[in-house]
Amino acid sequence: MIRNDIKQLSAYHIPDARGLIKLNAMENPYPLPDTLRDEWVRHLHNLNINRYPDTKMDALRHAIADGEGLRADQVLLGNGSDEIIQLALIAVDRGACVIPRPTFVMYEIISRWLKRPVASVPLEKDFSLNADAFLRVCAREKAGIAFLACPNNPTGNMWPRSTIQQISDNFRGLLMIDEAYHPFANDTYTDMIDPHVMILRTFSKLGMAGLRLGYALGHPDTIGELNKVRLPYNINTLGQASVNFFLKHFHVFDEQTKKICRERDRLVGILENMAHVDPYPSRTNFILLRVPNAGFIFEALKQNGILVKNLHAEGDLLENCLRVTIGIPEENDQFVATLKEVIGETDK
Ligand SMILES: Cc1ncc(COP(=O)(O)O)c(C=O)c1O
Repeated sequence: MIRNDIKQLSAYHIPDARGLIKLNAMENPYPLPDTLRDEWVRHLHNLNINRYPDTKMDALRHAIADGEGLRADQVLLGNGSDEIIQLALIAVDRGACVIPRPTFVMYEIISRWLKRPVASVPLEKDFSLNADAFLRVCAREKAGIAFLACPNNPTGNMWPRSTIQQISDNFRGLLMIDEAYHPFANDTYTDMIDPHVMILRTFSKLGMAGLRLGYALGHPDTIGELNKVRLPYNINTLGQASVNFFLKHFHVFDEQTKKICRERDRLVGILENMAHVDPYPSRTNFILLRVPNAGFIFEALKQNGILVKNLHAEGDLLENCLRVTIGIPEENDQFVATLKEVIGETDK
């Protein structure tokens, strides 16, 4: 009954973070200010959840489009950007999905669900992307679609405009430029949007991960085609109304984002000073760091109440790498103190 290739899969594992300082999932660590929370709950009070949600979501799409200087028909909304990745992989012509390695895992996972072959192009040692090599693989594999996370997860770096431009100029499939970490990178490739280039964004990293709202910005024709494979009520009434409300209070999330970026830079400075730890520069809300023994350190951090992500099993460029999401200052201090203790570390 169940496809054999599905039987071979394991379900996506989300570790239990109860009771731990949660620095593993690139969430915004700041809760809503109390007054905003109260106002939000009042705003939700009159919603009619006996009715199906608004399927067109004009108000929300207009609000997002206005913020980008685009038109509402250039915006597609998804239940997290994960869903838009899935919509694109459903809608695009046959042909491989080409991705860099390492990158965000869902591109490959969803491709496999949909029986789309995946070809990956290894990043260089410094996590740079060779555009010629990427394009060669796209041509060889007759790629239908390619994903470039800018900045990239889990490496944290942003490939330069010239690299992305070269790929977008020469790739004839659908190029999905995933800007999930755009709020922390202060840069965007939205100017490259055309019928075969789309930008992916999410509200998850900004402080609304629990609402599950992602969006694509693209050419109206491509957005229109992807919209045909979107489930009619993919964004529930509470999610729509909440994001609509929070967009009017965007400065709150903006300020939190600035605090996170300041903390990130402070943390990189501290980690750089440690003799046995190598942090990589980050344009995101997380830091990738190489340590002497990732498995041991991951477990020791967990025993001491701190959950990060261990990437060692991915091998290659991620050997002995951990990824730590930026928390509030007290959490970051505790992470550093515990890391120093478990490594037996002195400053450089
Ligand atoms: C590069 C990248 N894209 C997309 C996502 C998924 O975000 P969402 O919560 O909108 O599904 C993530 C989440 O970690 C990510 O790192």
